[in-house]
Parts: sequence; structure tokens; C-alpha cells
Amino acid sequence: MFWTLWIGLIAALLGNAPAAMASTIYRDPDTGLTFSQNVGLYKSDGRGVTFRIAVPDAVDSYAPYDVVIQIVVPTEVGWAGFAWNGGMAKNPLLAVWRASNNQDVILSSRWSNSHVSPTPYAGSQYTVFKTGTKSNSTHWQVTAKCTGCTSWQNTEGGNRYLQPKAQNRVAFAYSPLRPSNPNSNTSNFPVHDVHAYWNHEFALASNANFAAVVQKLQS
Ligand code: HEM
Ligand SMILES: *[C@@H]1O[C@H](CO)[C@@H](O)[C@H](O)[C@H]1NC(C)=O
Ligand SMILES: *[C@@H]1O[C@H](CO)[C@@H](O)[C@H](O)[C@H]1NC(C)=O
Repeated sequence: MFWTLWIGLIAALLGNAPAAMASTIYRDPDTGLTFSQNVGLYKSDGRGVTFRIAVPDAVDSYAPYDVVIQIVVPTEVGWAGFAWNGGMAKNPLLAVWRASNNQDVILSSRWSNSHVSPTPYAGSQYTVFKTGTKSNSTHWQVTAKCTGCTSWQNTEGGNRYLQPKAQNRVAFAYSPLRPSNPNSNTSNFPVHDVHAYWNHEFALASNANFAAVVQKLQS
């Protein structure tokens, strides 16, 4: 323990990028869902965006399934992005930011075939839950169901699936700037300053009561 702390401190002093951390369990008191979470760091002092995912328990590994994503964002963030399969290109992307009233959260489903600004993607739909969507003086958070985030077609027309009981490689992106037309989910947006990857452990995020809880949250 002692030496681990010192090695961590020395690495921090040298300015090394932190190694990607393992997912941890987060039991959300608001929604009642169990999430697995990772933090996408955008500053070396530990500031980051927290990404949580909740998965239904009984699902087939090679079939689409709904998930719930909860994102906790420091107010200084302009927009934050999540790549469901760990890269900018050829996987469902989500970008989130706040509307100009600093109250409403905008979610934008995107896709990009290369490293150019992603365009609206109709293959994923997000349903925001009022429960689990809130803010205070330092952070805002959003909780939404996604249909169409765990499966998609690759460019050859084959189906790809995120594994409900294993690790899936994901990525995030951060910009200090808000999109140019912040009240619209089809706004253009500025390129990210930071991106990072990790393996998100979906197996920690299984919820036996997923369907019932989601039904209650969206009614
Ligand atoms: C949801 C939004 C976005 C996510 C999650 C995302 C994620 C990423 C990631 C993970 C990379 C590293 C390469 C890779 O793994 O594919 C990357 C590279 C890149 N992205 Fe994005 N991105 C997003 C939006 C944008 C936007 C809006 C722009 C332009 C306006 C952009 C332009 C680029 C460029 C030019 C690169 C290559 C630069 C480099 O490798 O240093 N991205 N992106
Ligand atoms: C924008 O929001 C509308 C209404 O919720 C939704 O139907 C549409 O798919 C969203 N577009 C994007 C790009 O997320
Ligand atoms: C502010 O809200 C965020 C997101 O919900 C939460 O993680 C954080 O603990 C809250 N801070 C305080 C001081 O309550």
C-alpha cells in the first residue's frame, strides 16, 4: 500500500498519463440501477467526466439490447463525447452538453466514418429520464436509456454487438467549448482537446430488474 502510493505520487510528479483504471460499481440511489463506472480524465489534476452504464441481466451476447447511460460532467466542460466501441470512427457516438439556459441537457447521437466532425446518426435513440438528471453548482448529470447503442452495422454490412457480460473497449472525448448552436442536437461542434480509452466492464453492471426499473423511469 505504502509503496503503491509512492509510485503513484512519483508518476504524478513526472506528469505521466494515468493508466486506465478498472471499472467500479456504482449503485445509484436515484434510479435504483447498478452501474459500472469509469472516469475519463481531461486534466492531470484528476478532473474528469464520469461515465456509468447499466445493462439488463438476461440478454443474448449476439443481439441488440437497451442500456442506460449516466454521465456526470463538471460545469466547466463545453461538450463531452462517448464512443460506444472505443474509437471515433464507425461506431455509435454520443455527445452531451448544456443548452444556453444552463439547465437543459442536449444529447446528440452521431456517427463518423473517419476523423471528421460526426454527423447525426438515427441508429441510436436516447430517452432522457428526469430521475437521475440534475445539477448543482459544480456538476450536471444526465441519465438516459439508449436503444441502438449496443449493436450497429459495420461498413461491410455485418452486425457488431457489445458484450453484455464482458469488457467492451470505449472512448471519451472532451472539449472546453460548447457547440456553436447549443440548443440544437444537430449543432456543429468544435473538435476535442482530449480523448482517452478504457475497457468498460459491462459484467459489473447487470440489473435483474432492468426492464421494470426502466419502465418506471420513463413513465
Ligand atoms: C462524440 C464525439 C466524438 C468522440 C467520442 C470522438 C472520439 C475520438 C477519438 C477516441 C479519437 C482518437 C482516434 C480514434 O480512436 O479513433 C478521435 C480523433 C479525432 N477526432 Fe474525434 N471524437 C468526437 C468528435 C469529434 C469532432 C466534433 C471532431 C471535429 C470537429 C473530431 C475530430 C477528430 C480528429 C481530427 C481526430 C484525429 C486527431 C488525432 O488523432 O489526434 N472528433 N476522436
Ligand atoms: C434530436 O432530438 C430529437 C428529439 O428528441 C430526436 O428525435 C433526434 O433523433 C435527435 N437527433 C440527434 C442527432 O441526436
Ligand atoms: C453535485 O452533483 C454531482 C452530480 O450529480 C455529484 O456527483 C456531486 O456529488 C454533487 N456535489 C455536491 C457537493 O453535492
